[in-house]
Amino acid sequence: DWTMASFRQTQIDTIRKQVGSGRVICGLSGGVDSAVAAALIHEAIGDQLTCIFVDHGLLRENEADQVVELFRGRFNIKLIHRDASDMFLGALEGVDDPEKKRKTIGKLFIDVFEEEAAKLGGADFLAQGTLYPDVIESVSFTGGPSVTIKSHHNVGGLPDRMRMKLVEPLRELFKDEVRLLGLELGLPHSMVGRHPFPGPGLAIRIPGAISKEKLALLRRADTIFLEELRNNNLYDAIWQAFAVLLPVRSVGVMGDGRTYDLACALRAVTSTDGMTADVYPFEVSFLTRVASRIVNEVRGINRVTYDITSKPPGTIEWE
Ligand code: XMP
Repeated sequence: DWTMASFRQTQIDTIRKQVGSGRVICGLSGGVDSAVAAALIHEAIGDQLTCIFVDHGLLRENEADQVVELFRGRFNIKLIHRDASDMFLGALEGVDDPEKKRKTIGKLFIDVFEEEAAKLGGADFLAQGTLYPDVIESVSFTGGPSVTIKSHHNVGGLPDRMRMKLVEPLRELFKDEVRLLGLELGLPHSMVGRHPFPGPGLAIRIPGAISKEKLALLRRADTIFLEELRNNNLYDAIWQAFAVLLPVRSVGVMGDGRTYDLACALRAVTSTDGMTADVYPFEVSFLTRVASRIVNEVRGINRVTYDITSKPPGTIEWE
């Protein structure tokens, strides 16, 4: 019968058979899916795998370091860490349309990834952490709406000229199964239990044009929110939780002074697949504690709201 342990073994055999003595590259994003795919493939073929981590500078606080530490330090996986944050910030300057942000990031991501792959002298296979729902979502349903609400840049995004065969060992799995497989492979709960995080990262959590300063504010607010969730044992009950930095200034009081600073929204939803989502019903006292910490600890944010829109009609992300 089907267990995660047997799935792991079957996939290892399949990967070995498919790859032979070929070389595989795998893009790491900091997310669960690519991490589990990389760990599994590494177990199958060891040093025939090289991971490329294109750091777009749009990750959360400390996330890039954690990825490097885990894969290089603990798993001993060959890993190229390319810090391309200045390139991404430059390309995104003045870009305020959500889809234009995605396209800009997606394109540059591929360029940088290709550049790093070329430096390695290429590879025979490209590994991706594609999940079953990604496979479903990227085919067009006949009779369904043909409107793209948001273009995701993590599926099938690489150009034909890279001409590598795909290794996609998670194609049959749902998110919760990927998490179990990750634990089975020895990935820490803190990585495996992570909330999904969009490829374009914090860029789509700052409506309007992004900047270094705004990214820094958002990172601080987001970290405080997540810290409080973990401290109150709420993190695992939630599908995704994050802060959004709003392009709105409002007046506040701080001590004897008046402030005129940015607002942020907190978002937390439950979901099983991200297609529909419900607002997480926090106790008001939890929300007010987070708000007070953010306003007191993050100079530049003086107001916090909680987004109480379910999906549909809202989407999980604001952009
Ligand atoms: P929405 O906002 O459409 O999000 O309700 C549904 C799920 O998809 C994630 N998301 C993205 N993931 N690239 C990604 O890799 C994207 O451009 C993107 N946009 C949204 C979102 O975080 C949620 O899990």
